[in-house]
Amino acid sequence: MTLGQQSMGFATIFLAAGKGTRMASDLPKVLHHVAGAPMLIHAMKASSAAGGSRAVVVVGFGAEQVEKAVAAHDPDAVCVHQGEQLGTGHAAKMAQSALADFDGDVFVMLGDGPFIQPAALTAMQTAREGGHDLVVLGFEAEDPTGYGRLVQAPDGALQAIVEEKEATAAERAISLCNSGVICAARGTFFDLVDGIDNDNAKGEYYLTDVVARAEARGLSCGVVTCPEEETLGINSRAQLAEAEAIFQRRARAEALENGVTLTAPETVCFALDTGIGRDVSIAPNVVFGPGVTVETGAQINAFCHLEGCHVSKGAIVGPFARLRPGAELGNDVRVGNFVEIKNAIVDEGAKVNHLSYVGDAAIGARANIGAGTITSNYAVIGSISSLVAPISIGDGALVGSGSVLTKSVPAGALALSRAEETHRPGFATRFFAALRAKKANKKAG
Ligand code: UD1
Ligand code: MG
Repeated sequence: MTLGQQSMGFATIFLAAGKGTRMASDLPKVLHHVAGAPMLIHAMKASSAAGGSRAVVVVGFGAEQVEKAVAAHDPDAVCVHQGEQLGTGHAAKMAQSALADFDGDVFVMLGDGPFIQPAALTAMQTAREGGHDLVVLGFEAEDPTGYGRLVQAPDGALQAIVEEKEATAAERAISLCNSGVICAARGTFFDLVDGIDNDNAKGEYYLTDVVARAEARGLSCGVVTCPEEETLGINSRAQLAEAEAIFQRRARAEALENGVTLTAPETVCFALDTGIGRDVSIAPNVVFGPGVTVETGAQINAFCHLEGCHVSKGAIVGPFARLRPGAELGNDVRVGNFVEIKNAIVDEGAKVNHLSYVGDAAIGARANIGAGTITSNYAVIGSISSLVAPISIGDGALVGSGSVLTKSVPAGALALSRAEETHRPGFATRFFAALRAKKANKKAG
C-alpha cells in the first residue's frame, strides 16, 4: 500500500439490516444502547478511530430509525437498503455501488458487535500492507459453537471459513473463529462477493465464502487475532447486559488510569462519550448519561445524575444533584443537594446549594441562589404553589407561582395569593455596604 492510499483511509461496510429476533423488541437490534449509545455507533466510532474515512451502513429492518441514528452520528455516512435479509454476503453486496468510486481498502464490520477496538483494525491494515490480499479478524473462542471456523493450512495461511452448519467434526473442533470483520482492496472484495451463491445448509449468501473463493484464485488470505471479549456479538438482552458490564469495567479502569478518583468504581456508570479530566473525584453512585464533560479538579459527590452538561474546574456537585442537558457550570461553582439544573449557565463561583430548580436561566458569577428557589417560565399551576384540599381548579385557570390557595378557582380565572411586590431602590446596596463596614470594624477592633 502506498502512503497516498494510507492517508485516504479505508471504507467500512456495517452490516445492520437484521431484525435481531432474540432481542424480542420493536427497536432494531443495532439501536439498542450500550453505555448510552446505539451499539452500531460503537462500531462506527472504532472504525473512524482507526482511520476509516467512509462509512456505508446496510439497513433493512427498522431502516428509517437506523438511518436517523446514523445521520445523527455521522452526516457523511451513507445508508443502503437490503430489502430481504438473504445473508451477510448479500448484505455486503448492497454496498457495492455506494463505493464504486472508492479506491482503497474495504472493511466489513457487524452492527451488533460494539467492542472491536481500533487497534484490531490497525493490525489488519498492517497485515494487508504485509502482502495479504484479504485479512480476517479471528479469535480463540472458549466455546466456538455457532461461529464460523477458520481453516488454516499447516503454514498458517487461511484457506476457508466454514460455518457451523457446514462444518465437519474435525472443523468443529477448531477453536479459532471468525469475528465477522474482514478487509480487502475494494476491487478484489466486490469481485469475490459477486460470485457467492446460497448453496448451503441455511440457503443464505455467506460473506465468509469470500475466503475459499480467494484461495481458489491463488490470492493470499491472512488472519489477525484479537481477544474474544472484543468480538462479543449481541443477540439477546442478556448479552446486552453483559456488554454493558464489559463496557463499564473498561471505562472505570480507564478513568482510574487517567487520574480520576473513584471511591466505589463499581457504582459509577459512564457513557461512551464521557470526558473526565485529571484529579476529578467521583463519589459512589454517580451516573453519567451521554454528552458530559468534567474538567480537572471538579468533585462529583454521591448520588448525582448528569447528562448533556459541562462541569468546569473546581466545581462541586451534589450529593443528590441532577444536571440535565444544557447545564453549564463555571469554575468553582457549587451545586448542592436536591438541585436540578437544565439548560442554564451558572457562572464562575455561583452557588445553588439546596432544593432548587434552575432551568432556561443564566446565573451570574458569584451569585448565591437561596434554598428552594425555582425558576419558572412555563406555568399553568405555577411553581411553589400549595393547593390546600379540598379545592378544585377550573378548566383553563391559571395559578400564579408561590400561591397558597384554600378556595376553588373558577374556570378561566387567574388565582394569586401573594403579597403585593414592592421594590426599594438602593436598599440592597446600602445594606451590603453597612454589612461590609461592620465586618471591617470587627476586624480592626
Ligand atoms: C456471522 C459469520 C460467522 C461469524 C459470526 C460472528 C457469516 C455467514 N457468518 O455469523 O462466521 O463467526 O458472524 O458473530 O457471515 N445481516 C444483514 N443482512 C443479512 C444477514 C445479516 O445485514 O442478510 C447483519 C446482521 O444484522 C448482523 C450481521 O449481519 O448484524 C451478522 O449476521 P448474523 O446473522 O448474526 O451472522 P452469524 O450467523 O452470527
Ligand atoms: Mg450473529
